Order: sequence, then structure tokens, then C-alpha cells
Amino acid sequence: MPAETSKQDLARELEHRAVSSPSAEHLMTAIASRLAQQLPHYNWVGFYLLEKGAPEKGTKQPALVLGPYVGAPTPHTRIALDQGICGAAASSGQTVVVDDVHADPRYLSCSIETKSEIVAPIFVQGQVVGELDIDSHSPAAFGPDDRQLVEHCARLVGRYLEKAPIR
Ligand code: SME
Repeated sequence: MPAETSKQDLARELEHRAVSSPSAEHLMTAIASRLAQQLPHYNWVGFYLLEKGAPEKGTKQPALVLGPYVGAPTPHTRIALDQGICGAAASSGQTVVVDDVHADPRYLSCSIETKSEIVAPIFVQGQVVGELDIDSHSPAAFGPDDRQLVEHCARLVGRYLEKAPIR
């Protein structure tokens, strides 16, 4: 079966899961598990959710907080918006694909084995609320069909959150 077909099947399967998911947390967990199971070059798959700061209190800056993930534990459980590939994707609202993480000065290392990374923002009503981050042990692991699949998954979570926000 060509890889494209199985990614399309996976996209459809996850679309169905989004309909039947009891919570956004369940949906994110299902997406992370299925992507990691089905796609051997997706070595770390996880979500970060944007925690808005309380600047009026001068206490907290906005940060990306680690949500459901599959893979090795990461030291990066909170990432500021001006840090990392994750911060770049969230602050620009653009998907970021990095073919060689070691050549990118923004990169925050999670595992020494990671060679490439893709991060797609999650939007609710046009605002970034989080992102889906995937690391690969293979260089340049993420092509256009991966981008399509990862953005599709990010959209599923965004649509879910539009209907059932996390409180
Ligand atoms: N590599 C990311 C940090 C998250 S870990 O990879 C899970 C970054 O540069 O933002």
C-alpha cells in the first residue's frame, strides 16, 4: 500500500475519532498514539497548549505547556513563545518544518537522536491555542504529505476545542 494511502486512511480514521471523542484530551492522546504507531519515522509525537499569561498581574508570561505525548520524556514541559521551533510555530501561526534540527539555532533539544521536526499550530477562531509537534530520528523526514496529515490533525483538535473548550 503506498504511504500516501495509509496517511489518508489515518487522516480519515482520526476524523472519525474526533467525532466520538469524549474530551479534547482523549482526542489528543488518540492522535499522538495513532501517529506514533502507524508512522515509524514519527519518533516523538506530542501536543503543547498555549497558557496565556496574566500580564496585568505581572506574574506569568504566555507559555506552551506540554500536553498528551508519546515518546521519550522531554525536559521542555514549558516553552516560552520566543524559544524553540515550538515557540516559532506558535508565535508566527505557521507550520514550521526543520529538515536538520542541528543546523537551526532555534532548536531546543529533546533527544540527541532527533534529526528533523515539524510543528503545526492549532487554531480556535483564528487564534493559536496550541500545536502538534513531531520529531524524527531521520533527517528531512517530513514531506508535503506529512505536513498535510499533521495540519489535518491540528485542525481536528482546533475544531473540537471550538465546540468544547478546555476550561
Ligand atoms: N524541539 C522543540 C522542543 C520540544 S521537544 O522536541 C519535545 C523545540 O525546538 O521547540
